[in-house]
Amino acid sequence: MKNFYITTAIDYANGSPHLGHAYEKILADVIARVKRLSGVQTHFVTGLDEHGQKVQQGADAEGIEPQHRCDRIADEFKEVLTKLDISHDDYIRTTEDRHKKVVSELLQNLFDAGDIYQAEYEGFYSTRAEQFLQEKDKVDGEWPEIFGEVTRITEKNYFFKLSKYQDWLIKHINQTDGFIHPEFRKSQVLEFLKEPLNDLCISRPVERLSWGIPLPFDPQYVTYVWFDALVNYVSAARYGEEDFSEYWPADVHVIGKDILAPPHAVYWPIMLQACNLALPKQILAHGWWTTSGAKMSKSTGETVSPLALVDQYGADAFRFFVMREMTVGQDAEFSLERFSSRYKGELGNDLGNLVSRLVHMCHQYFDGNAPAQELSEDLEKGLQSKWGEVSAKVLEFYDTFQFHLALEEAIGFVRAINKYADERAPWKLAKSDKEEDQKALATSLATMLEGLRLANELLAPVMPGVHAKIAECMGQEPAAAWAGRLEWGTRIEGVALGQKMILFPRD
Ligand code: MSP
Repeated sequence: MKNFYITTAIDYANGSPHLGHAYEKILADVIARVKRLSGVQTHFVTGLDEHGQKVQQGADAEGIEPQHRCDRIADEFKEVLTKLDISHDDYIRTTEDRHKKVVSELLQNLFDAGDIYQAEYEGFYSTRAEQFLQEKDKVDGEWPEIFGEVTRITEKNYFFKLSKYQDWLIKHINQTDGFIHPEFRKSQVLEFLKEPLNDLCISRPVERLSWGIPLPFDPQYVTYVWFDALVNYVSAARYGEEDFSEYWPADVHVIGKDILAPPHAVYWPIMLQACNLALPKQILAHGWWTTSGAKMSKSTGETVSPLALVDQYGADAFRFFVMREMTVGQDAEFSLERFSSRYKGELGNDLGNLVSRLVHMCHQYFDGNAPAQELSEDLEKGLQSKWGEVSAKVLEFYDTFQFHLALEEAIGFVRAINKYADERAPWKLAKSDKEEDQKALATSLATMLEGLRLANELLAPVMPGVHAKIAECMGQEPAAAWAGRLEWGTRIEGVALGQKMILFPRD
């Protein structure tokens, strides 16, 4: 059976993981979890991009082998994935044999087909960006800072015939709905394609760079980073094996906007087309997190790195924050104040307090068992019908990658439960012996439990840990699939509840 195959960019093995890397993995993870909960068989792959000049230079500076350095960095990145509760099925590293084999095979095929040729190249070269530059890359007559030192060099290299496929690509992008998401990025790619494409230099001479995959048809050269890195998506999909079609084509490549055009929206589709391989269905380009400086300062003057918040507040609060705060595709500013306000407000006050006071009242008034709903008056009906609207919207927002809105709705529903509680005021009803009031007390707690159970279902993709804890408080198993769990009325009446817990402690 064909899997829903979702990938992220593979991170460069030339530094430590940061907020940008973390966000992208969380975004892809939430999409993967939504799919799994919706009953779709999913394959989620992330990994590490290990070749190239900077990796080699980093290793040289430390006086160690590049592979040794990559192994250490891979451990660091993987540790962050574990900390963030990322549910990837595979982690691909470009120094693995399974990947090198596929890169060689594709290069040889393209060489045999005449799509790769050798030519002399003279041009400006940026060591930092590992790319040849053109006059048009200058800003106000100067090379921008991002390119570092730029020198003029001449060398023989191998080139891939990008230009041959330009018209085909423009047509494909125009004709394929949703190929590039969000829509506004599609126009940027088409704008880029208005200029004639230069063929892509795909090699580096071994004497200049040895840390790479040798070209199968000329061992004096190694493969240039993009031709190596992009291929990871098909290597991880088991290219060349019988079950390749269970994974490929990818359903979504999740990447940042900086590597959309040209790498993912131009090089990659053309490489696949030239290799007679199907194209991914969608490229999802997210925006950038900006921070005022790499670190953020607390009011005390101390500085804090965004990833340190994971240790302090837990993966779920962090995952919630980044998904709640960023509109997919747009940039967002990361600030400690914003984090703190979401943590205390939506998580602590709205959700956390509901869980603790509700479980507490069930223990206090019903010996820890979920009471039955005995009445169905306007207040109960109102909350139930709100659930109908909210759940439809949240699922729609999840499907269209509007996670900030999905969470706004889900938390909005939690607030509606709190409002219902204030109106029914079970703590007052508990003081009365009247039969009517006792019925209303049982009803109010049963209704709140059902509401919370449902809200918790929708939080599962974003806060899997908190979801499991809330399920435990309510004597439920965490959700493996949503089927049959999202309808109001699958009550948990009579179930023995767990102990109350503080989900979002104040520091
Ligand atoms: N190795 C290449 C990708 C090859 S994919 C076949 C690369 N690596 S990277 O480590 O520089 O970036 C990895 C991902 O992190 C990219 O998608 C990039 O956009 C993303 N981010 C890096 N910094 C970011 C932010 N500040 N904010 C959000 N994401 C950003 O590019």
